[in-house]
Amino acid sequence: MTPIALRSLLFVPANVPKFVSKASTSAADVVVLDLEDGVAPDQKQSARGVVAEHARQASENGKPVFIRINSDLGNAVRDVESALSSHVRGIVVPKVEGPDHIVLLADYVAEIERQKQLPEGATEFILLIETAKAFLNIDEILRASPRIVSVAFGDEDFSAEIGCAPSSENMIAYKHQLVVSATRANVRALGLFSSIAEFRDMNAFRTGAERARAVGMKGSFCIHPAQVDVLNQTFSPSEQEIATAREVCDVFEEAVSNGAGAISFNGKMIDRPIYNQARAVLDCSGLSDHVRRGA
Ligand code: COA
Ligand code: MG
Repeated sequence: MTPIALRSLLFVPANVPKFVSKASTSAADVVVLDLEDGVAPDQKQSARGVVAEHARQASENGKPVFIRINSDLGNAVRDVESALSSHVRGIVVPKVEGPDHIVLLADYVAEIERQKQLPEGATEFILLIETAKAFLNIDEILRASPRIVSVAFGDEDFSAEIGCAPSSENMIAYKHQLVVSATRANVRALGLFSSIAEFRDMNAFRTGAERARAVGMKGSFCIHPAQVDVLNQTFSPSEQEIATAREVCDVFEEAVSNGAGAISFNGKMIDRPIYNQARAVLDCSGLSDHVRRGA
């Protein structure tokens, strides 16, 4: 499937129609209908009853939809069964245990895809690493299924387990590792260096998103519509960054065609790694070579 933008993934408790309507017409790249911790235990069954209809509503508004399922097997099986449809792009898998967990889930999802006559293998997975065990097995976990497109870190659950405060400072080492592992597995790392729950202080939220982008995160989950624009802006290159990258690529490509390996440009050295960084900015800004060259 063609990759979609994952700059902003807006969580909506799956059983709140008002939020679903608002999220469906928001600027979020993805709507995530939550059946896990955003829904009270005694509401899970009724949330499953409306999740398919809410997914259809968001999807018909042009939103890619993911469903966050529960982690325990009993609920997870029922969640997958009620959630999957042609309107659902994938599932968010919380509290990943290890590679076997993902293999088992992928097999079950394949069975439901067959039953519902959906394209086999099409349901994508976004994984949440929320335990010490999962963190230490992250590379194997990310290799467990080709369905995996992205991975994020669950600050609150992880901190509770290891007994630290869930501050951004305390999460730095883990989140940097997540980016490296995601890169190696060719999936996108998502996350923030501020609390996802921060939906009133947009400056703090923006700072956390900017730090996340600076270390290689590609986007983030969010829980309130006010956070969406901040994420979309932060995880897109600015006009200035695109213009600079275009210039760097043009002058370096010309220099290479004239036999140079490193050149001086605007008082700085440009060599291949710097060129590659500029190319990455243009690639993620969605500009093809053709457009970039103004042809
Ligand atoms: N998706 C879509 N719309 C949302 C929304 C969401 N996640 N959160 C709030 N809204 C809407 C409100 O309905 C309101 O709409 P209106 O102006 O048309 O009335 C508007 O955005 C402003 O909401 P606000 O009054 O600021 O917040 P609230 O008190 O209604 O909701 C929360 C605050 C935290 C309860 C709510 O944002 C929420 O439940 N978020 C998702 C939580 C979640 O899924 N957690 C699990 C994953 S971590
Ligand atoms: Mg969690």
